[in-house]
Amino acid sequence: MPATIVIGAQWGDEGKGKITDLLAERHNVIARYQGGNNAGHTIVRDGEEFKFHLIPSGILYPNKLCVIGNGVVIDPHILFGEIEALRERGVSVDNLRISANAHLIMPYHVLLDGVSEKSLGRFRIGTTGRGIGPCYVDKVARLGIRVQDVLDEKILRRKIHAALVEKNLLLDLYDIGALDPDQVTDELLSYRERFAPHIADTSLLINKALDDGRSVLFEGAQGTLLDIDFGTYPFVTSSNPIAGGACAGTGVGPTRINYVMGVAKAYTTRVGEGPFPTELDDEVGAAMCEVGHEYGTTTGRKRRCGWLDLVALKFACRVSGITHLAITKLDVLTGLPTIMVCTKYKVGRKVYDEFPLHQTEFHHARPVLKELPGWNEPVTKALQWAQLPQGARDYITFISEYTRTEVKLIAVGPGRDETIVMP
Ligand code: IMP
Repeated sequence: MPATIVIGAQWGDEGKGKITDLLAERHNVIARYQGGNNAGHTIVRDGEEFKFHLIPSGILYPNKLCVIGNGVVIDPHILFGEIEALRERGVSVDNLRISANAHLIMPYHVLLDGVSEKSLGRFRIGTTGRGIGPCYVDKVARLGIRVQDVLDEKILRRKIHAALVEKNLLLDLYDIGALDPDQVTDELLSYRERFAPHIADTSLLINKALDDGRSVLFEGAQGTLLDIDFGTYPFVTSSNPIAGGACAGTGVGPTRINYVMGVAKAYTTRVGEGPFPTELDDEVGAAMCEVGHEYGTTTGRKRRCGWLDLVALKFACRVSGITHLAITKLDVLTGLPTIMVCTKYKVGRKVYDEFPLHQTEFHHARPVLKELPGWNEPVTKALQWAQLPQGARDYITFISEYTRTEVKLIAVGPGRDETIVMP
């Protein structure tokens, strides 16, 4: 597996952490390419739970190179908090490299994320409040502060002064009060010594690794339907979680990518606002939430739950060129007498088997559901395909045939070993 991208094929929280952890074992370099500490990956290793927001999950392997690519936005306070916490648990972070071009989440980004959501009122996006959107806004507006700026005090001070001219007007408007540019600069400079050993030309590092025949795993955060271009805009994040984002977010050409692993839950969840055609507002949805522990790793928010949306999954396969699927949390569906999957949408009298062109139509889409038989036998102990109950096998086969994509991994429990690898 020379170069593999792992992406979320739904609205995030698909269990990418576990799949990335599994695949990381077979790769030499693990690189994150977008998002920031809005992400939350949980990995269970030898019964010990690790939660990552910013650092690539591969950090738990001592001999892997871990990269935070240029497409990631970094809150230094969170980054060094995470590094410290790992060190305290005996995990070395010496093998972490951070792109000099990655943008920094500044204190004013976090403040502006909060007030902008508040001012949107009932039209709010339901962001994680981590300053992600405002940071990407500044990147595109060419007002951003990059990791490399920390190494040049004069430039850093000048840039923060320039950025705060406009930000302070906004902060005053929202009654938060202006920030002192020198104080903001000094605070950031306090991280300089800790940043320095990690800063690198990560595009060069990754390309060299590939040239030397080493393998690279690109670790996506969030999911396809939260993509700024292809998600359910405006209820999306501000980056490109789709596979294409891995190239732009690390400086690796598309011709170097061999595999794209799309991760999807056996059902669907979503946090925050926005349309969700298969959402279940009943006891089945509530059971999925409880059995699947569907509470956000980052914000603790309860996730909305619903049936698997195959139209959306097929869309994810298309826009990311997914070569293989990993279906997670199959165990959560055990015991349901029947399982529904959405194979089409209905909007008024129109029937769609692809995403409707206009977002308004998607907001009004009702799912056309196909009923499949459930299974009662527990699946958690299954180590091979043949050990899965017939209902579970039929369910996975249906997903694979509908999306015309090979299912390679099936997660039947949270632990590393609770995963079926298809031959
Ligand atoms: P932001 O990324 O904090 O700006 O939030 C934008 C939208 O993306 C909101 O609906 C969030 O709930 C959602 N979101 C961001 N990160 C994640 C994630 O890791 N999992 C699931 N949803 C997320």
